[in-house]
Amino acid sequence: MISVLFVCLGNICRSPMAEGIFLNLLERHGLQEHISCDSAGTSGYHIGDRPDPRMRATAQRHGFELRSRARQLLAEDRALFDYIIAMDRDNLTDIRELWLADPQTERAELLLMRSFDPTPEDGNVPDPYYGGTEGFEYVYRILDRSNQKFLQHIREKHDI
Ligand code: 4NP
Repeated sequence: MISVLFVCLGNICRSPMAEGIFLNLLERHGLQEHISCDSAGTSGYHIGDRPDPRMRATAQRHGFELRSRARQLLAEDRALFDYIIAMDRDNLTDIRELWLADPQTERAELLLMRSFDPTPEDGNVPDPYYGGTEGFEYVYRILDRSNQKFLQHIREKHDI
């Protein structure tokens, strides 16, 4: 089983949406027995919370539900996942700091979500938390096209 962890700051907006979209893709391609996914936040601000209502509404508009509960990233996740996908460069920095402070088996490959985006702009998935509704739809579109390429990358690399 190949395992993927999507990471943002709060684990209530960007990474739950990345997880929801990726789960849909796995289902559509019949890959649930080959690839699993989860999401986490670098902060502990929202531990146990459902995704932000604005992000849940965005998912519903596109015909699916976000069912995750926020959890904080653990140093041990490095040893448990094959891919850790950060939403922005601040997340990358925080993840690397966590691993420096608490070294673990070097399993996961750490990558930026928008390294798979055909139009990556500045490489960050913008944080929609403090903005308007349109920011959530914008993030959905980024995550949808990035995840399609990311899944293609995994399939080619692992021959599945
Ligand atoms: P996320 O968005 O990292 O995409 O889940 C945020 C959610 C909450 C906060 C920041 C970003 N916050 O500061 O509470």
